[in-house]
Amino acid sequence: MDKELALELNSQITKEIYSSNLYLAMSAYFAAKNFNGFAHWLRLQSQEELAHGLKIFDYMILRGSQPIVAQINEPPRTWDSALDAFEMVYSHEQLVTDSINNLLELAISKRDRATENMLRWFVDEQVEEEATASELLERLRLINDNPQGLFMMDRELKFRQ
Ligand code: FEO
Repeated sequence: MDKELALELNSQITKEIYSSNLYLAMSAYFAAKNFNGFAHWLRLQSQEELAHGLKIFDYMILRGSQPIVAQINEPPRTWDSALDAFEMVYSHEQLVTDSINNLLELAISKRDRATENMLRWFVDEQVEEEATASELLERLRLINDNPQGLFMMDRELKFRQ
């Protein structure tokens, strides 16, 4: 595989693992506040992000390129509110989408069709991820820290499979 492309794929693995840790940290924050539905939702989201990282990890190995497991920055530990946390989820997903789009552009410019195909899965996935994050954020904006609204949303998020 092209060296520059392999390097950028590797950096995407790091970003996905950072996302996983960010959402796990958020899960801990909500659990500490007894918002167990939010905590559950974010824990599952954390697992999904780790799976994204591993998908690229496995792809690199399949292509004969050894992935490097790099240092991951520590995510924040606390947020001002549920709204504040989900503002971060949404803006973080937008950053990930930009990163995937740049990676896809690079794969196209290197004429690496297999990597292009692999990355298109992530393009579709990001549409879903942004839509879900945006929906939850909009609901939190409406709730505006109203305890009853937060309680109801928390109860509902417990059911994510
Ligand atoms: Fe793997 Fe939510 O981006």
